[in-house]
Amino acid sequence: MPFTTDAPAAGSETMSFLDQDHQLLIDGQWIPAESGKTFEVKNPADGSTLTSVAEGDRADIDKAVAAARKAFEDGPWSRMTASERGKLIWKLADLMDQHVEQFAEIEALDNGKPKSVAAVADVPLAIDLFRYMAGWATKIEGNTIPISVPYLPGAEFHSYTLREPVGVVGQIIPWNFPLLMAAWKLGPALATGCTIVLKVAEETPMSALRLGQLIQEAGFPPGVVNIVTGFGETAGAALAAHPDVDKIAFTGSTEVGKLIVKAAGETNLKKVTLELGGKSPNIILPDADLPAAIAGAANAIFFNHGQCCCAGSRLFVHRTQFDEVVEGVAAQAKEIKLGPGMHPETGMGPMVSQIQQDRVCSYLESGFREGAQAVVGGKRDACSGYFVEPTILVDTKPNMQVIQEEIFGPVVAAVPFDDPDELIATANDSIYGLAAAVWTKDISKGHRIARQLKAGTVWVNCYNIFDASLPFGGYKQSGWGREMGHEAVDLYTQTKAVTVQLH
Ligand code: NAI
Ligand code: MG
Repeated sequence: MPFTTDAPAAGSETMSFLDQDHQLLIDGQWIPAESGKTFEVKNPADGSTLTSVAEGDRADIDKAVAAARKAFEDGPWSRMTASERGKLIWKLADLMDQHVEQFAEIEALDNGKPKSVAAVADVPLAIDLFRYMAGWATKIEGNTIPISVPYLPGAEFHSYTLREPVGVVGQIIPWNFPLLMAAWKLGPALATGCTIVLKVAEETPMSALRLGQLIQEAGFPPGVVNIVTGFGETAGAALAAHPDVDKIAFTGSTEVGKLIVKAAGETNLKKVTLELGGKSPNIILPDADLPAAIAGAANAIFFNHGQCCCAGSRLFVHRTQFDEVVEGVAAQAKEIKLGPGMHPETGMGPMVSQIQQDRVCSYLESGFREGAQAVVGGKRDACSGYFVEPTILVDTKPNMQVIQEEIFGPVVAAVPFDDPDELIATANDSIYGLAAAVWTKDISKGHRIARQLKAGTVWVNCYNIFDASLPFGGYKQSGWGREMGHEAVDLYTQTKAVTVQLH
């Protein structure tokens, strides 16, 4: 690690939060796991233990689902007006606004990301998502529909639709944007009047627990939001298979996404939305603004240490500009300082866990065995934290694992192309379809390629632009459904058609 100075300690508010007893939020109370078990939470920058949290399991999921069911059917939540729901969500956002620094510190310590990044990206985006969704609470409308009913000539009807909340929702989130993923999930569920059991990632439970405290402070009724810390194979699997859960919203690996679909199918056919992996193509056309495209390509893969489902992990560059672009991105990679998230000079923190560090490094080794070369980076950093150097691979082949599979680390494969017309097929040659980008000064070409790319998000002359109002989700095996925007709201409601005969 390049730093000789220690990272500054987190503020006293964060330290005293970490020192608390971290329990499960069920039915408006913080309670220990039924088993009494806890597990340790690590700081990935040095492998030290930050704190420990309750280890929720099937029994705790059962309790949380029962609390969510009670709150959905009988609680004050079910009688609250849309305006009151919206106000509570807005109040939560206001409370979060008072703790931006603390949330950024928690993310830096627990996930490893730079505090400076969390303070301007993760936390404000999470707050903005809640405000956006607070506005939706009062705008969830059905339609009136003129019906004809040809088999009852002369009869008159008044038909309309109601959009009603789906019910009790299980939400399972990953560790790459812990607070933001909690917001993406909770926001639309709260706006529509659902109740929730949130299972946070075992690697990064802390920011959601702090959010749970603010949810209590904002005054949400008991059982509306229940938060269970615990492992995927136990607590997560129990939630996915629970017969009284009406919907599961999941973000994580495609492998676990398939398990969730199976669990839903084998139990109560609960609704499922999924936001899964990606292997997103980032295309630099010969007429691109090259300095902007180079900076964009570096941001596309190195932002959040490449632990982004939409990371631009396949970089396609015309052969005539290939060396210049690769050198440019490599120069940016060399500038990035690896360090603990709490250090003000850190540009890239550690991978979230040793498992993730090992996974990324084993992908690198497989690429090298098959003939790929690293222009820059290519290995783990020799220190106690879980660091991997920012890496650019060249000399890859289309069938290599490093081209086909999601690495989820700071590793981009740069691939030259000759014929832009053949490029689209290559870019679309993936089981995934989460995001894609194209860099060009020709605006028609940009729009045309945006239509041709099979991805849920396409960026033209930019990368990693997110907004609470923009739907985000995947084509192909990158997922089902969309998060954010009004499409997320739709997916937390179901439509009821009501027909009244007029006499
Ligand atoms: P994962 O899919 O195992 O974990 C995500 C969440 O699912 C966590 O809350 C975990 O506890 C839960 N989970 C795990 N097994 C479960 C099960 N059987 N039933 C219900 N819930 C379960 O992802 P993991 O192992 O942390 O990372 C593996 C790979 O997944 C990464 O290398 C990356 O490729 C991908 N991934 C993608 C993410 C995305 O944003 N789309 C986020 C995290 C990981
Ligand atoms: Mg952690």
